Amino acid sequence: MEFMLKQHTVICKELIDKLSKYNIISYDEYLCLINNRDLCSEYLFKKARNVRNKIYGNKIYIRGLIEFTNYCKNDCLYCGIRRSNKNVDRYRLSKQEILDCCNLGYGLGFRTFVMQGGEDLYYTDEILCDIVKEIKEKYPDCAITLSVGERSYESYKKLKEAGADRYLLRHETANKNHYEKLHPKEMSFNNRMRCLNNLKDLGYQVGAGFMVGSPYQTEEDLANELIFLNQFKPHMIGIGPFISHKDTPFKNEKSGTLELTLFMIGLVRLTLPNSLLPATTALGTIDSIGREKGINSGANVIMPNLSPFDVRKKYMLYDNKICTGEESAYCVECIKKRIKTTGCEIVTDRGDYKEF
Ligand code: 5AD
Ligand code: FES
Repeated sequence: MEFMLKQHTVICKELIDKLSKYNIISYDEYLCLINNRDLCSEYLFKKARNVRNKIYGNKIYIRGLIEFTNYCKNDCLYCGIRRSNKNVDRYRLSKQEILDCCNLGYGLGFRTFVMQGGEDLYYTDEILCDIVKEIKEKYPDCAITLSVGERSYESYKKLKEAGADRYLLRHETANKNHYEKLHPKEMSFNNRMRCLNNLKDLGYQVGAGFMVGSPYQTEEDLANELIFLNQFKPHMIGIGPFISHKDTPFKNEKSGTLELTLFMIGLVRLTLPNSLLPATTALGTIDSIGREKGINSGANVIMPNLSPFDVRKKYMLYDNKICTGEESAYCVECIKKRIKTTGCEIVTDRGDYKEF
């Protein structure tokens, strides 16, 4: 028995070496690693940190997250701000409030602002472009990332021309069948993929991503995620555990685990060595030092919340989300201290994708 385990460990390490060398292994090989992750996770994390350090050094890029609207026309089954949730106190930030967040963030050293919101029809192209333009005028040395869901090609084009540099749109799962179990029937996997391709064509730095441990997800699905990522090659990949929200149809579903999420971060780092990988808020929510562990598994981005304090509790995508209470006044200092414990350091930098 012990001999068998040793053999398995050796095989896993060889697979990790192979992945490190070629940045791709087969679906079956990914699956083998995922199934045997308890034998080789430390080895994977070490390799993942090494490649990250080779490309980006020990630098961690910070992005100021501005959650500017929690109105949403969608009804994703997992999400706390889905339109059917009548318990949400809905809000929109004014242009001035958004600019105030940027001003605060700039002073704190942020050179990327992420404007994230639900799919809120109030924000026509005209309104959104106007806000993007003004942020760019005031902070020309900053990058703007949008995260406002599915829109038309034309709309993405206008926003790009207005000055948006990057776009986050998680695909949530690369399996069409699985996608349909997580979303209402008016949402489609094909449209999500079309949007991601359009964003790429328009020259955005594109972020995709998925939840780990979402309802109905299998280990096979996770192996498939890596094959998908290798094909689509996003610049950024947001990976966080699924966490149930009490007012959603998935309220009784169990959350994704820390160890599996970290393992996926490590595998993604080796598959897409140059990617920008955030240690997500969801990771920090399931474990008190989850984000630090994310960094130690190969992540190199952190996205502290810059939203005004009075709205933070209203942007509850899942239960117990961190940085929404009293302590959140000090997020930036808190993050800095936390990053120090990993041996990495936060930098004041746009933190663009490095091609080579
Ligand atoms: N648990 C974890 N992540 C969630 N998201 C939405 N709801 C949840 C949840 N219950 C993630 C989705 C979305 C991102 C903004 O937040 O992946 O794309
Ligand atoms: Fe927000 Fe620690 S990062 S309170």
